[in-house]
Amino acid sequence: MHSLVYRSVAVENFQLPDIYKMLSDARLFNSKHNITGCLLYHDKKFLQLLEGEEKAVERLFKRIRKDARHHSMEIICEERSSLRLFDEWSMAFHDYGLNGTSAHLKLKQIDNFFEKSDAFMKPSTLAIPFFANVKDILFNPTQLNHV
Ligand SMILES: Cc1cc2nc3c(=O)[nH]c(=O)nc-3n(C[C@H](O)[C@H](O)[C@H](O)COP(=O)(O)O)c2cc1C
Repeated sequence: MHSLVYRSVAVENFQLPDIYKMLSDARLFNSKHNITGCLLYHDKKFLQLLEGEEKAVERLFKRIRKDARHHSMEIICEERSSLRLFDEWSMAFHDYGLNGTSAHLKLKQIDNFFEKSDAFMKPSTLAIPFFANVKDILFNPTQLNHV
């Protein structure tokens, strides 16, 4: 089992309807290849966790990396582990860009989401950096030039 967390920034014209379309294809692909994880989206920023057999994760990540719909990719962490944090999701998606939802409320939502998956109870070094990046994405607007 291999897990990988990265973050990136959506290009200007990659909007929610396109993201939902991409996700429905991604979920089909992921369940076929036994890949699970989650994708968070807020203020043009993505944070994704991919989990699965090492070769399958590497192969998919190569494609995601080349995808021109996002940029400024940064790998947060990678680990070999015996279990999945999100074993029931082919790719859970949380859109934190919804209008009128405060960053604190969004943080509460992701907290619940983690609790449901028991992620913090699992012996993984991924959960903590993952959660730190969730907070960063929610509370620290980046000054990146949009492409
Ligand atoms: C932020 C982001 C996350 C993605 N996550 C997945 C994913 O989990 N699974 C998947 O099959 N494709 C995902 N994709 C789409 C892939 O980058 C790629 O378009 C897809 O695998 C089809 O590959 P191809 O364009 O080489 O045909 C993601 C794209 C982006 C921009």
